Formats: sequence, structure tokens, C-alpha cells
Amino acid sequence: MKMQNLEPDYENMTFEKSLEKRPDSTDTEKSRDLVPRELRDTVGDITVPNPRMICRGVNVYYGEKQAIRNVSIDIGRNEVIAMIGPSGCGKSTFIRCLNRMNDTIDSCRVSGEILLEGVNIYDKNIDVVPLRAQVGMVFQKPNPFPKSIYDNVAYGPKIHGLARNKSELDEIVETSLLKAGLWDEVKDQLDHLGTSLSGGQQQRLCIARTIAVSPEVILMDEPCSALDPIATAIIEDLIDELKRQYTITIVTHSMQQASRVSQRTAFFHLGDLIEVGPTPRIFTRPRHQLTEDYITGRFG
Ligand SMILES: Nc1ncnc2c1ncn2[C@@H]1O[C@H](COP(=O)(O)OP(=O)(O)OP(=O)(O)O)[C@@H](O)[C@H]1O
Ligand SMILES: [Mg+2]
Repeated sequence: MKMQNLEPDYENMTFEKSLEKRPDSTDTEKSRDLVPRELRDTVGDITVPNPRMICRGVNVYYGEKQAIRNVSIDIGRNEVIAMIGPSGCGKSTFIRCLNRMNDTIDSCRVSGEILLEGVNIYDKNIDVVPLRAQVGMVFQKPNPFPKSIYDNVAYGPKIHGLARNKSELDEIVETSLLKAGLWDEVKDQLDHLGTSLSGGQQQRLCIARTIAVSPEVILMDEPCSALDPIATAIIEDLIDELKRQYTITIVTHSMQQASRVSQRTAFFHLGDLIEVGPTPRIFTRPRHQLTEDYITGRFG
């Protein structure tokens, strides 16, 4: 029996008109209301075989204001998934759900289900300290501790008890710096301050610090936006290398970067996950009008 295709025929829907009615092309609460609700359901396959993380029906509120609406998506193993969308659409809010970083914001409330290797990370028995090692985070602005290069990397393994002695700790520091592509540049100055490095080196130091506690997933929120093109290229090569071992979720404003580094892309708009799919398809044949408008630069 032929399966009935229950998905709306987005390509032939006449909702461009409703977009034209928008007062302007900026993202306002009003413009959300002009797009029919059913056209804000996620287009594309949210699932992957054997996912590392499963998010279902995730809502996030800051006080009364809802920042993420009913988002469901799988995050695969050894994949780089890019999160794109206009400023304020909820990319950072969403990735912060993946390691409960939003817990640190008083007004923030998260509902729905997020599983890591089948375990609900919002379960009341979950300790967020080891969770944030399993799901590490690299921020927009490199933020090394005001400590030596060595101590920046050794800090996590020490507090998580990952090394039994100094030589094990030395080995973790070296391996992490090697994987972060920084070892050769810093091996003779491990006692120098992490903050004395260049911006690109500092960001690789932060990646080494994240890797040092053996994460499964690395969240990166615009990791290159403070870097020059050469430092950016080095980090992008590194991301490609790291995906062999880790799952990487990267928020980026650069569509070229998303195309270069990711295998899947998720497009957010005003708190909704509008479309998700293989990166080449999202950028060449987006199925949702809003995705097309964004990638062709009509807003954002
Ligand atoms: N700590 C907070 N308290 C209240 N509202 C917040 C907070 N952080 C984010 N928001 C709101 O939630 C919405 C989503 O913000 P978020 O920072 O996740 O967007 P974003 O897609 O990461 O944007 P950008 O591309 O500018 O970083 C915005 O309306 C923002 O104002
Ligand atoms: Mg952000």
C-alpha cells in the first residue's frame, strides 16, 4: 500500500503573500502572527538513526516570554549540526538546554524532554556538574581562566577526578592540546597565562579545556565570531577533525561556515524550528519559504 504523504505541500502553498503583508522584514512578534501556525511546524526529517541526543517538545520561557516553541530534533553521533537563524530566534537558548546551562538563569523555565544516550537530562536525579562535562560548551568570546595554559586544561580533569597522578594529568593536558591543534604552539610555554595567547589560540585552548573532560557532545555558540579569517579556518578544520570522536552542535551566523563544517542544518525563526535537513539541501533547495528568505538574505 502506498503511504499517504501527510506533510503539507509547502512548495505550492501561497504563503508568500502572508509574508508580504509583514509590516517590515524584521523579526517582530507581529510577523510571527502573520505566518499561519501550521506553516511553523518543522519541515524535514528531525530524526537520525541511532541518535546521541533526542529532544522532543522542548519549550523555553523567560518569565512570561516564550523563547523556544515545541522544538523536536535528534542530534546524531559524529555529526556537526549547525543551528542558524536571525538574531533573537533562540539558537543560544536552545543549545543551552542541551547541557542545562539555562538552569543558571533564574527566570528561565524549560519543559519537554531531552535525552542524552537515552537518559533524560532534566530528570531530578541528574547532577549537572558531570552533565556539563559530558556536554561541554565553547562560547563566542574565548574565556580562558586567568591561569596558566596547563592549568586551564588540567582544571576540569582535576575537579572531575579523571587523573590519578601528575603524569596522567600531564598526558590528558598534552592529548587535549594536541586534539585542539594547539600543542605545537604552546608546548614550551605551558606555564604562561592562557590569556596571553592570541584570540584564535585562546579559543583552541577553550576547546582543549572542553575536550579534557572527555565530552560526548560539544556545543559551540558562534565560536569564530571574534576571530580573524585565518584563526577561523583553523577552528573549522579542527571541528572537522573533532567530529570523528564527538558530536558537535554549532551556532553560526555565517552560512558559508555552516556549509563548510556541518552535515545537518537546523533553521530557527522566532523560537520555532522551521526546517532541518542535510546541509547541502538546506542551502540549495530549502523547502520552507522562511528558510529560503533567510538564506537568500531577505531578512536576518
Ligand atoms: N537571559 C535572558 N532573559 C530574558 N530573555 C532572554 C534571555 N536570553 C535570551 N532572551 C530572549 O530569548 C530570545 C532568544 O534569544 P537567544 O539569545 O537565544 O537568541 P539567538 O538566536 O542566540 O540570538 P543571537 O543570534 O543574537 O545570539 C530573545 O528574544 C531574547 O531576548
Ligand atoms: Mg546567540
